[in-house]
Amino acid sequence: MNILETASARQKIMGIEESCHLALLGQLPAVPLAPARDLEVVGFKQLPTKKGIGYIEGRARLLHDLASIELQAMELGLRTLIEYPEASLEFREQLLEVTVDEGRHFELCLNSMEELGFKWGDWPVHLSLWNTVKTGESLMDRVLIVHRYLEGSGLDAGAKILSRLRGLPERDAAWSAMDRIHREEIGHVDFGSRWYRELCRENRLDADHDFRERMTRLRETLPYRTENLDRESRLKAGFTESELLVLEELRVRERP
Ligand SMILES: [Fe+2]
Ligand SMILES: [Fe+2]
Repeated sequence: MNILETASARQKIMGIEESCHLALLGQLPAVPLAPARDLEVVGFKQLPTKKGIGYIEGRARLLHDLASIELQAMELGLRTLIEYPEASLEFREQLLEVTVDEGRHFELCLNSMEELGFKWGDWPVHLSLWNTVKTGESLMDRVLIVHRYLEGSGLDAGAKILSRLRGLPERDAAWSAMDRIHREEIGHVDFGSRWYRELCRENRLDADHDFRERMTRLRETLPYRTENLDRESRLKAGFTESELLVLEELRVRERP
């Protein structure tokens, strides 16, 4: 089974591990232009407005948006396994674990949303993370974009949302799902940090210099992220002070 071609959310979860193993063996075909979905897909700007997280519906929507992000993260992991057969086995095996984790995160979001009385498909979703990467880009670009830029930005957003959820009188399924996912995402970003440095070493590049140069170049095509950096999670996830400074500088430049 290739879960990129399967629309059903639950079938994707059930099939992700098998799909990853097939990809590792080189037995999956090329990736489709867009992964299949069993709900409406719209552009990021066409998403309906959200209720505040003080409302149950607002927290369910938060989980729905996060579910869509986790699903895309899972599919991007599989996509990288398919598109970079030449990457080291150690990298591919670790990426398989990260990808299976994303499947568990996706499932946790779906179950937590149902606990709040809502379900997958109650709102449309976007595919902007999937569309951020390009077939044919270098593995270094891919690792930096997916695991350090997109997932790294997820740490900033997650910390901000958690602090807002902490201020509510009660903690429900949204809190426990967000809290667990945030802690586990630190490991995913750290996976990106370690392999980015390893790839720099293999290509005889100075990591600090390359980060500034590569990030500045890639930034032109990546979605804007203007939230404050969550320094604590970022440092735990392998970012250095000089890398955080580069990200800060790029954000200041982009702030409206
Ligand atoms: Fe995740
Ligand atoms: Fe992740």
